[in-house]
Amino acid sequence: MQYSNDASLTDSALLQRFQALDGFLLEHRSLWTPKPFTQLELPWEKDLPELAAWLRQRTIEDADAVHNSPELLQAPAPFPDIAARAAELSLIDALPARPLGKLPNQLTVDVPGRKWQQIEAFASSLSFAQPPRQWLDWCAGKGHLGRLLARDGKPLLSLDFDLALVQEGQRLSDRLHLDATHRQQDVLAPGTGVHLNGEHTAIALHACGDLHVRLLQQASQRGCRQLAIAPCCYNRIDGETYSPLSHAARSAKLSLSKEDLRLPLIETVTAGARVRRQRDASMARRLAFDLLQRTIRGSNDYLSVPPVPPTWLAKPFADYCRELAALKGIEVPAATDWAALEAAGWQRLAEVRNLELVRGLFRRPMELWLLLDRALFLAEQGYSVSLGSFCPPQTTPRNLLLLAERT
Ligand SMILES: C[S@@+](CC[C@H](N)C(=O)[O-])C[C@H]1O[C@@H](n2cnc3c(N)ncnc32)[C@H](O)[C@@H]1O
Repeated sequence: MQYSNDASLTDSALLQRFQALDGFLLEHRSLWTPKPFTQLELPWEKDLPELAAWLRQRTIEDADAVHNSPELLQAPAPFPDIAARAAELSLIDALPARPLGKLPNQLTVDVPGRKWQQIEAFASSLSFAQPPRQWLDWCAGKGHLGRLLARDGKPLLSLDFDLALVQEGQRLSDRLHLDATHRQQDVLAPGTGVHLNGEHTAIALHACGDLHVRLLQQASQRGCRQLAIAPCCYNRIDGETYSPLSHAARSAKLSLSKEDLRLPLIETVTAGARVRRQRDASMARRLAFDLLQRTIRGSNDYLSVPPVPPTWLAKPFADYCRELAALKGIEVPAATDWAALEAAGWQRLAEVRNLELVRGLFRRPMELWLLLDRALFLAEQGYSVSLGSFCPPQTTPRNLLLLAERT
């Protein structure tokens, strides 16, 4: 998707998509806000009983089979129509990629396989009209991405607040004789802006919520010539509600809570079978405990419980529930039918997973809404902007990249 702030047509395409997504998310808010994990019955089920009943009779395996592409599910109306609209509004092109050529072994040896794939894909998707002059790697960790880019001989400034990562990054850059400075810096601290200037191409791979938002603000204020940002963890923000960046989002009707911002992140394409089994067992137990606590307390409210170590899964089910109950100061009746309760937990997990598929339809639209808010903000600040995916979702589900260049 290419947008430019100096061409009114593409400008309006940017805005049009944002407004269409805004309307879509707003119209269907009742479908994506309530969480099946914490509510026994969702308010929308009364309005759509056929869809709800159909979803509730499916198995965990049925749900898992379409988890990553819920739009493919042939469910009763209005699911298919909503799914088609969600897919249409989420359509986004892959950014054009250029091969990086043969890379020195020393660049890659210290980087885990999937991380390296992300880094290579990010670097090969950077197509700016003007060649970069200096690199600024924001929340860089050890600075692997910046190092890959700085092999072009341009200076690199790499910022991160973790001293051990900064020191290791400096060591790795020195080993390659790069013109690189790795600096320990809390990017949220006042005065971080002094490190940014108009010569910089600022890059950020998976800087969470407030961290990449701060880069957008600082880089545009300090006049950085180019930016490349692949955001993640939109919910890692200081406030309880999302603060829109662009004029369009500030005047939009949709407002998002911190909890809402978790929706784009619910995606487990990368988890292996063993991890999934363990996660299922843990969730089934939590859901069973939830049924138990509702009965004991005579309340239909979800009770949040603290995370427990995975070793708790090895405990007999009854002990697990009793100890969790003790943590919450709840007394468990002696006559509890543990086998029935455990089975009810698994049944609830199957229902939760399938009902979640409805929310799943809105993951990508919300992520794109958030990305477009960032894109519109940069366009307002005088950048020409392009937005696309830089790798397949199997490499990372957070695969959207925002490129911006001062016009
Ligand atoms: C998900 S990692 C991404 C690292 C690197 N960009 C990559 O893709 O490998 C996020 C990084 O942000 C850094 N970080 C977190 N909070 C920060 C802050 N307030 N200031 C600077 N760096 C921060 C962490 O130390 C971590 O290295």
